[in-house]
Order: sequence, then structure tokens, then C-alpha cells
Amino acid sequence: MRIEFQPGNYRDIVCDVLAYPVFEDECKNFSSLQPLDTITRGAVKSALSSLEFKPELHQTCRIGKPAGLKARNLLLIGAGNKMKFDPAKFRELSGTVVRSAKSCASKSIALCCRGVSSTSLAARLAAEGALYASFELDLYKTRDNESKNIETLQLLFDRDATRGEVEEGIRRGIITGDATNYARTLSHEPSNILTPAQFAERAVTMGEKVGLAVQILEREDLEKLGMNALLAVSRGSEEPPKLIVLRIKGQEKRRMRSPLCALVGKGVTFDSGGISIKPSEKMEEMKGDMAGGASVLGAMLALAQLRPRHAVIGLIPAVENLPSGKAVKPGDVVKSYLGKTIEIINTDAEGRLILADAMAYARTLGAGCIVDIATLTGAVAIALGHVNAGILGTDQKTIDRILHDCSITGEKFWQLPLDDEYRKAIRSEIADIKNVGNRTAGAITAAKFLQEFVEDTPWVHMDIAGVDLDSDGRPFACKGATGFGVRTLVQLLE
Ligand code: BES
Ligand code: MN
Ligand code: ZN
Repeated sequence: MRIEFQPGNYRDIVCDVLAYPVFEDECKNFSSLQPLDTITRGAVKSALSSLEFKPELHQTCRIGKPAGLKARNLLLIGAGNKMKFDPAKFRELSGTVVRSAKSCASKSIALCCRGVSSTSLAARLAAEGALYASFELDLYKTRDNESKNIETLQLLFDRDATRGEVEEGIRRGIITGDATNYARTLSHEPSNILTPAQFAERAVTMGEKVGLAVQILEREDLEKLGMNALLAVSRGSEEPPKLIVLRIKGQEKRRMRSPLCALVGKGVTFDSGGISIKPSEKMEEMKGDMAGGASVLGAMLALAQLRPRHAVIGLIPAVENLPSGKAVKPGDVVKSYLGKTIEIINTDAEGRLILADAMAYARTLGAGCIVDIATLTGAVAIALGHVNAGILGTDQKTIDRILHDCSITGEKFWQLPLDDEYRKAIRSEIADIKNVGNRTAGAITAAKFLQEFVEDTPWVHMDIAGVDLDSDGRPFACKGATGFGVRTLVQLLE
């Protein structure tokens, strides 16, 4: 898809679909819609007064052969209540426009950018939303899906917008949009294709393209380092574990003002539960148990191109969790990289084991701030459903910043507490700590476990187990992997 600035007036644009966002309030307060209505000889008013179109968020109304326009169709798109509108909603609108045009085999779109006060931000959001919407999950369909993709998206502004600010926004939006789709693709890859080794190989290939130094720690390296918590998880699988470490070239030499930030993503390429095996229903979804790792890889892909002000590294412990004669068993005790001993009560609580070693190692690499992202607990989805991800941690300033930026990133988080009292649930009789608590507060006790391994390093934990997959699809996206976290991590580092 070509995305470009269109400095002209919407009257003169030749395209298949001219998309125009309409706010609910504009039904009564019609003056801002008057020019478009006059040009189209009352088409807008008539659509609004018939019950065909209510400008609720994502509702659309297509008007064919509109009078006074060169566009073949005018697409009115509901933007909902103006008071509740935020930048994230504009990204979604752009996506809804693209999917609606795509479903009618249209090739060219012109989108009127309304409702976001910053021009470059609007351009960025339009591009991000358009790319997000273009993504499909038919990765392994062999029939020729005759390309239904949109060829051009032109961005129009009803205010003075300079080419420079629009193009800068588009550039940024393409980078983050592509990076998000990159993460979504990885999540969709089945585990027979995306093994830990393949995950590492993709990181290396991607790194070569954008200037990331990618280092792969092999099983022997992990053994030498004593990462026995990570190794325990991978022991039941024939696939060797990999610890992927990503650095942005050039950043090592430059003395950065802020502490090094480590992004750590859970990369379980398939989670059967191990000996504590999961029920078979929906077990296939566990190919996506590397979504956190995919988001870290996606974020690093974007950051390598955006050159952030903050020094950043990415770590992805990649393993497969399977039962076998060699697998780790309930009751086993291992000594972690940090030196703390862990009693493994449930082999299905594997994410925290690999993250514990990866995060402790991040500190060895000099991290002064750690952000981890993981499909860690079913409990977080019980608490927050599929709307908000859980966020917990000791770095309240960073958490506040992330919560504040939700209105731009569109990735919602809700903070859960980390009181000392929750630590009691993971006390072990035989070792320093055990890897599961009781039935209650599962998302919190998982985080308390992780906290033991970051010690006093400022830390933020994102539990995305409820939001990494969308089972229904949205007007602006196909169902499936969401790439949740890519935009938040990029926004944070920038
Ligand atoms: N990968 C799962 C968590 C998960 C569940 C992600 C559903 C996405 C959808 C994780 O490894 C896991 O199995 N967690 C256990 C922890 C329990 C054994 C303490 C869980 O949530 O049941
Ligand atoms: Mn598990
Ligand atoms: Zn898991």
C-alpha cells in the first residue's frame, strides 16, 4: 500500500473511496458538515436523517456516485461522541475505512483526517491503522487469493498541513504498523515452523536488515551460565532452547544519558503444560505463547529504525514446553541463574521460570530498568477479560507513563497490586521459592515470583495473556493475533 500526503481539496480527488469521519454531535451541530453536504447536494443530510446511518463509532455509510465529487464513492464513517474521541480511535477509524473499502474490491482511498489536533500524529495513526487493517491470517492458504489489497491511501487535511509533518507521521506510522504486523505473523506461525531455533533465525535475519546486533545464546552457553530454570522448561523437548539478545548498533558506543532499558519477552513457542499437561481444548492456541517475545522483536525492529533517545536491549528466552521422559517433573528443584533455588510445583507455570533467568541476566548485561511482556497467566484474563492487559511493577513512574499513553497507543492496561503479603503464597518448604501459589490472585503471585529475580532494579511487568488474541475480529482488524505491546514499547522508549 502506498500512503501519501494529498495537499488538494477533497472535491477534486479521483479515487474509489473518499472517507469522511462524522461525529455524533455533528448531527445537531451541522455547520462543520455543511460544506460537504452542499457539494454533494444534500447527500450527507439525507443519509443522517434516514435511519441508514447513525455516526456511532465504526458504523459506515457508502454513497455511490456522489454528486459534486470526483470520488466514485463517499464513505461516511461514524466517529462516535466527540468528547470520548481520542487519537487511538482515529487509528481504528482508518482501519475500518481500509477494511470496508477492501471488502468492496476498491483500490484507492482518500481519508479526510479529522478529530486529531496534531497533524503528524494524525498521519502516523492513519498509516498505522491502515497497515493493521490490511493484515490477514491466511498465512498458509495455497489457493491464489487474488490480491484484494488497497493500492493507495491518500491523506487529506481540512487545515494547513505541511508536507514535512505529514510525511514524518506517515514514515513513523509505517514503521510501527509494519512492526506490529511482523509480531502478529510470528504469533500465527505454528510451532512446527516457529521452533525456538527458527525464532532465533528470524531475529538474526531481521536484525541484518535494520542494523540490530543479534546474539544467540545456545544450550551450552546457558548451561555454562547456570540458567537452570530456563533449561528445566526446555528439557522435555527435542528442540534446543535459545536465548535471543538484541542490541541496536551504534547505541553501544554512544554514551546514553538514561539507564539501559531491557525489554524481555516470553518466547514459549508451544506450551503443552509439560508433565502438568493442559486439557486438549484450545491447546492449539498455545502456539501463541511466544506473543510477548514477538512483541519485543517487533518493538526492536521499529526502534532500530526510529533511533530512540534511550538505550535499549531486547531479550527473548525461546523454548518449547513438552512432556517426555526427560521433562522436568512436579517437585523438582532447580538453581536459577541468580542463585535462588526454585521448587517447580507445576510445570505449566513455565513462563515465569524462563523470564526469571532472562531478567536476572539482563541485569548482568547492565540493565537499569526492566520491562517484561508475557502471556503469563490465565488468571489475568479472569480478572480483566480481553480488554485490558495487566500491568504490575516497582517502577511507578514508568507505569504511569504507560497508562497515560493508552489514549494514543490504543493498548489498554490496568494496574494490579504487588503488596508484600502476596509473597507468602509462593513460599517453599524445601527451596527459596516455589513457582505457583494457590488458586487466588494468580496474576499477582506470578508477578511476585518474577519480582524475586529483578530484586531492586526498577521493573514493569505486562501480562498480556487475555489480549494477545482476538477471537472475534473487529471492524478494523481480522481476528487472531493482535501484536499487543509493540506500540506501547515503542512509545515508551521514544
Ligand atoms: N501460557 C499460559 C498462560 C495462558 C493461558 C496464556 C491462557 C494464554 C491463554 C501459562 O504458561 C500457564 O499455563 N499458566 C498457568 C499458571 C498456573 C499453572 C499457575 C495458568 O494460567 O493456568
Ligand atoms: Mn504454561
Ligand atoms: Zn505458557
